[in-house]
Amino acid sequence: MKAMDILKKGIFLFSFSILFISAGAQHTGNDRIEILLKKMTLKEKIGQLNQAMAGWEVTGPSAKVNCRELIREGKVGAILNTYMVDSVMALQRIAVEESRLKIPLIFGNDVIHGHCTIFPIPLGQAASWDLDAIEQSEQIAAKEASAEGLSWTFSPMVDISRDPRWGRVAEGAGEDTWLGCRIAEARVKGFQGKDLKDPRSIMACAKHFGAYGAPQAGRDYNTVDMSMISLYEWYLPTYKACVDAGAGSIMTSFNEINGTPSTSNRWLLTDLLRKSWGFRGFVVTDFGSISELISHGVAVNEFQAAALAMHAGVDMDMMSRAYENSLEELVKEKKVTLTEIDNAVRNVLLAKMKLGLFDDPYRGISKEREQKEIMAPEYLAFARKMVAECCVLLKNDKGTLPIPVTVKTIAVIGPLGDSKRNMLGNWTSAGDEEKCVTLLEGLKNKAGNNVSIIYEKGCNTNDQDRGGFKAAVDLASKADFVVLALGEDEWMSGEASSRANIDLPGVQNDLAEEVIRTGKPVAVVLFSGRPLAISRLNAIAPAILETWFGGTEAGNGIADILSGDYNPSGKITMTFPRSVGQIPVFYNCKNTGRPFRPAEPDQKYVSRYLDLPNDPLYPFGYGLSYTTFFYSNLKVSVNGNKILVAADVKNTGNRDGIEVVQLYIHQKVGSITRPVKELRGFKRISLHKGETARIEFTLTSDDLAFYHPDLKKYYESGEFEIFVGGSSNASLTQSFLFK
Ligand code: GLC
Repeated sequence: MKAMDILKKGIFLFSFSILFISAGAQHTGNDRIEILLKKMTLKEKIGQLNQAMAGWEVTGPSAKVNCRELIREGKVGAILNTYMVDSVMALQRIAVEESRLKIPLIFGNDVIHGHCTIFPIPLGQAASWDLDAIEQSEQIAAKEASAEGLSWTFSPMVDISRDPRWGRVAEGAGEDTWLGCRIAEARVKGFQGKDLKDPRSIMACAKHFGAYGAPQAGRDYNTVDMSMISLYEWYLPTYKACVDAGAGSIMTSFNEINGTPSTSNRWLLTDLLRKSWGFRGFVVTDFGSISELISHGVAVNEFQAAALAMHAGVDMDMMSRAYENSLEELVKEKKVTLTEIDNAVRNVLLAKMKLGLFDDPYRGISKEREQKEIMAPEYLAFARKMVAECCVLLKNDKGTLPIPVTVKTIAVIGPLGDSKRNMLGNWTSAGDEEKCVTLLEGLKNKAGNNVSIIYEKGCNTNDQDRGGFKAAVDLASKADFVVLALGEDEWMSGEASSRANIDLPGVQNDLAEEVIRTGKPVAVVLFSGRPLAISRLNAIAPAILETWFGGTEAGNGIADILSGDYNPSGKITMTFPRSVGQIPVFYNCKNTGRPFRPAEPDQKYVSRYLDLPNDPLYPFGYGLSYTTFFYSNLKVSVNGNKILVAADVKNTGNRDGIEVVQLYIHQKVGSITRPVKELRGFKRISLHKGETARIEFTLTSDDLAFYHPDLKKYYESGEFEIFVGGSSNASLTQSFLFK
């Protein structure tokens, strides 16, 4: 840091401490806040509740504002979507040197799957089932983001969803609540570390509270309407997991829940979040959602919308300016109390205190630190390993993969084969597409001079042009092996990107048919931000590797799998339907009174379709390896409140591999219906070829508990089944009685 900056930092600290010394002895953080509160005008208090953009990337419908002037006048408390040392220092300097009370800004950004080093999208990361790796990826993201002046990320997104039409499944952990909670905890820990005062940590923001992942028809922003039991059992626990893990903030969701938008939902934001769950951080709205209360039809104008949000428990207004425009008048008209304002301001200032911003508003950023941290070689190496861990081998007939070492020419064909931008996925923060490794580049890096890698795009992702088919087929005929690079563009998932048809877009299925008809060995590398309904492709492709959007090191990590250098270990955390007509289709469903029984396929009066099987194309927890695993010798015993489970897992193939051993429960009879299976544990284990390991789990009554109609969570005695296996189709089972 330059001498002038040190001097300015000293002046800030000196002038800021004057505020407190003038009030007497050394003060604790809370006292400091109370003293500051007393000095703040109403305008300055409202300023702390206002988050503005500084003219950078726009992530929602917004009007540009001159935020420098607003900062100088103390009318802004937080900035979104601005980072990099020079830009952050320039704005922070205005706040801490030119505003009256010198209150530092907090800088937030969507660091969703990495900041500069971009990791696989979160739905892909979930498929690794590697909680340590997920936590580590967030630690790296925090180091890079904080080095660029960010102290707050609008992440983790922990919305559970059972509907792949919804584009934002890309940002989450999939359909299972229990796994979603474990991943949420890992992400919060990764971002926040042990102490937010650590300048290399950033504050997490659990979003989108709540139940944003259950929009009717899978259409983003659409109505959420469900039973309270479903809300409590499936959709709320992941946010609570973030609160329990110490997340410093929560973001409200755009949707309503059973008639009340989250942003004006006092039951959600105050009664449940603060009084029941004990949340002590601050609540920020999603982009402009206070003003959207007018469209929801619960507020007649912005003035009323601001009052509703404040009464509900919203502390900070992201980009609607409703608070900035209305709160002062609302207080004068006694429609909002000064106490409500002070409580909101207190929550925001406490967060800034926890981040150490009052001690050092710059949190030690410097050009040197920025250059050292950004895309450090060890971060890129970690990203490459993560790409490989996140890929899921869906199909591999006759051991098509890995590509045989005898192959001399590989043809890469398809619209995703050499696309840098798509590798980043959505929510790319500071990711640089030019630094991304495409599939073609990754294979060339891997092949060196030994194998020729040739490429034809064949078609575009999403149009009807078949003009490239001939060149693609001709290229395939020249090769020993074909890699078909198919899937979605990254913009087809993420926010405001729902799809009513989730098959391969454009004419990619036709291209696949033409290329596969050549008879060459073919493996499909699939890129997507959601489970796709790929029944047509699945019927003809010998091998399919789901790779999501792998980020900066996508091509290298995928090449590690295709070459066999990494044995795939990923398992999907969201069901792949046969058809969009099956949605919602998920593993932890109920049995119904007329369940379809595969052993009686001709039964009419059962829960089934006339035109499709009930089961999905690929079930939750599924993923193949280049080796095979055999499960046996399951033992379940009860010892007091403990349920001890053990099973043997053997690597029965001819190469080492990693298996995600999954444990499911089923309560055979309950006071209300229970899912046919519920994930309650997993172990990601490495086994040498031929090796057997005895895997043990310990459950307690807490793992058997569920929400009842009175919304209380407790277990019931009775007969249970345990299932252990490599997917939710686990069939190794044993019953036990639990009192
Ligand atoms: C967007 C998203 C939210 C994001 C915010 C700021 O609309 O819904 O996830 O954090 O705005 O970019």
